[in-house]
Amino acid sequence: MKLFTGVVGAALVAAPMMFSQAAVAADGAALYKAKGCAGCHKADAMGQVGPRLAGQMEAYTLEQFKLIRDGKRTSGKSGMMAGAVKSVTDEEAAAIAKYVAGL
Ligand code: HEC
Repeated sequence: MKLFTGVVGAALVAAPMMFSQAAVAADGAALYKAKGCAGCHKADAMGQVGPRLAGQMEAYTLEQFKLIRDGKRTSGKSGMMAGAVKSVTDEEAAAIAKYVAGL
């Protein structure tokens, strides 16, 4: 039940990410709330303080998340997010990225 509109980041499809942990995806929705993402990106991930995440390419979301968390992307308001997501692991981020991509 994956919905792809195909309008976002077509060039980024070239870097498919493989994740073997099947259980990870199921936790995406819960992690999205538990890790505070909803506080800035809103419950429906349509954006508020932070930009819209809903429907973005999964690989793009995960990559950008890691860059911001690890302090490698400091553009705009990235700094205000970096501090809030320090404890989020790569696996948790992967589950969240899968979840919001399907919204
Ligand atoms: C304190 C507010 C805040 C929290 C909490 C937060 N974010 Fe963000 N996020 C932002 C802001 C602000 C930006 C825009 C950064 C910029 O200006 O470049 C952003 C950008 C992003 C981007 C890049 C989007 C793009 O289109 O490039 C991703 C991905 C992202 N956030 C994911 C997450 C996830 C996943 C969580 C939860 C683990 C989270 N964020 C928690 C504020 C937040």
